Amino acid sequence: MRAEEVNLPAREKLIVALDFPTAEAGIEAAEKLRGRVGMFKVGSEVFTAEGPLLARYLIASGEQVFLDLKFHDIPNTVRGACRQAAEMGARMTNVHASGGRKMMEAAAEGAREGRSGAKPLVLAVTLLTSLSAQDLDELGISGAPEDVVVRWSRLAQSAGLDGVVASAREIAAIRRACGPRFVIVTPGIRSAASPSNDQVRTATPRAAMEAGADYLVVGRPITGAPEPAAAADSVVKEMEATAASPGSS
Ligand code: C5P
Repeated sequence: MRAEEVNLPAREKLIVALDFPTAEAGIEAAEKLRGRVGMFKVGSEVFTAEGPLLARYLIASGEQVFLDLKFHDIPNTVRGACRQAAEMGARMTNVHASGGRKMMEAAAEGAREGRSGAKPLVLAVTLLTSLSAQDLDELGISGAPEDVVVRWSRLAQSAGLDGVVASAREIAAIRRACGPRFVIVTPGIRSAASPSNDQVRTATPRAAMEAGADYLVVGRPITGAPEPAAAADSVVKEMEATAASPGSS
C-alpha cells in the first residue's frame, strides 16, 4: 500500500499523462522525459487507437505505467481486465467506484492474479471532477459531491482497493476518512503561471503535495511545453518546495 510511496523523492511522485492519438507521439514525448519523472499514464485515447502498444513499449523499456482505463463493468469482466493489467506489468490501474463493492473486490482479486511481478495498485475513481451537484441530482445520487467522494473512497478502501484518484480539494477529507496509508493520486495540476486548459478545479504542485497527495498527474503543462524536460523539472521543483516533509499527512 502506501508505506513505500511516502518516502519516494518528488520526481518519483510525478506521473505524466501521455494523452496522444498515436503511440508514436506518446513514445516521442516519453523519450524526452525519461529519467525525469516517476511514471507515465496511458489513457483511453491512445489505448483506443492503438491498444496496449504504448504501455507495453514503456514497460519493456523499464518505465512505470499507470494504465488509466477506468474499468466499469460486471465483476467478472473487471477481474479479467485487472488481471491483464497486472500481467502487462502496469504499476497502477483504476476502476469506477460506482461499479460497487463486488466489482471493486473483483478488481483487487484480478490484480493479485496477474503473474508479472508486483501487483499493481488498484485505484478508484470516485466522482468525475467534471460532475456538478446538478449532474448528481439528475443521476439520482444524493448528497453533496464532497460527501459522495468521501463515502465512495471509504467503500473503495473497505473493498480492498489501494487508493483513489482525487482532485486537490478532496484530498484532506479523504485522508481524514481513509488514513495515511491510502494512496491519493491527484490530477488537475497547474503551476501558477500556466493556463488551466479545460481543467476547472486546479491546484499548484506545491498545494497538492501539501494537502497530502502521494502522486501528481500532469499532462499538457509538460507534454505541450516547448521544452517538456525543463517543464517537468520545474514541476518537480515546485513539488519539492513543499513546506511539510514529502508525503507527510
Ligand atoms: O493535461 P492535463 O494535466 O489536464 O491532464 C490530466 C490528466 O488526468 C488527463 O489524462 C485526464 O484524463 C486525467 N484526469 C483528470 N481529472 C480527473 C481524472 C483524471 O484530469 N478527475
